[in-house]
Amino acid sequence: MGRLTGKTALVTGAARGIGEAIARAFVQEGASVVLSDIDNDTGVKLAADLGAEYQSLDVRQEADWARVIGGMERLDILVNNAGITGFEAGWVSHDPEHASLDDWHAVHRTNLDGVFLGCKYAIKAMRAAGAGSIINISSRSGLVGIPAASAYASSKAAVRNHTKTVALYCAEQGLNIRCNSIHPAAIQTPMWEPMLGAGPERAERMAAFVKDTPLQRFGEPSEVAAIAVLLASDEAAYMTGTELNIDGGILAGSAAAPGK
Ligand SMILES: NC(=O)c1ccc[n+]([C@@H]2O[C@H](COP(=O)([O-])OP(=O)(O)OC[C@H]3O[C@@H](n4cnc5c(N)ncnc54)[C@H](O)[C@@H]3O)[C@@H](O)[C@H]2O)c1
Repeated sequence: MGRLTGKTALVTGAARGIGEAIARAFVQEGASVVLSDIDNDTGVKLAADLGAEYQSLDVRQEADWARVIGGMERLDILVNNAGITGFEAGWVSHDPEHASLDDWHAVHRTNLDGVFLGCKYAIKAMRAAGAGSIINISSRSGLVGIPAASAYASSKAAVRNHTKTVALYCAEQGLNIRCNSIHPAAIQTPMWEPMLGAGPERAERMAAFVKDTPLQRFGEPSEVAAIAVLLASDEAAYMTGTELNIDGGILAGSAAAPGK
């Protein structure tokens, strides 16, 4: 408790899933937290439950970033968490041969343009204190090829790389603004619902998704939040440009081969 006392944090996509867990953990650690999302009804209610603030922020919209960060007295931590798979409305072809250009762009607009804008506005805001922590939620899918989700994999790989560029840029500028990426795999959140479905096959599908995971289970959002707390805190003062995997061990072995 208290590892983030005195710090102000903004978390995107915080209405549910990993973003919700990160916002909860940050509040528990003493941070002043601004939750943001496009699901305003859920976000407002959650923020009230946590005793935190809520702001509507569509990460694709530069004007939203200017308004939200411009309205904050200070910013010590930004978590660029909002992300989409592109399968929210149901399964569509996202392989490299059949993905539509519109679908490809839609995934990159949220996952990559959103992170670019977040970093841009956070650096400007953090310049005042000359310090801060930017945490970008990438994915295992940003480290290996995913044939059925090419746009998602491409966008998350770009997030990994942009994280390192931001880290180096801030260091070059003499700023103590750290930027690191987290690479989760198979964390049980609502993002999985369109892929898991309902009915008797759900349990089989869940087992199939984690059959190559050494720890043989989905991860919990709180387990990702614990890594975010570390990167946000001064305990990680010498960590920048780093990528941290939280994947039940899958990237440690050959099961991380493309296609799995
Ligand atoms: N769950 C996993 O297994 C997993 C694995 C690897 C990476 N991730 C990444 O973790 C992050 C969170 O994933 P999750 O599983 O909690 O997803 P989720 O779908 O449960 O939650 C995502 C949240 O982001 C919000 N959002 C979507 N588009 C937005 C936009 N344009 N602006 C602002 N908010 C927006 C949604 O409203 C939702 O509240 C994503 O970046 C995702 O790619 C998740």
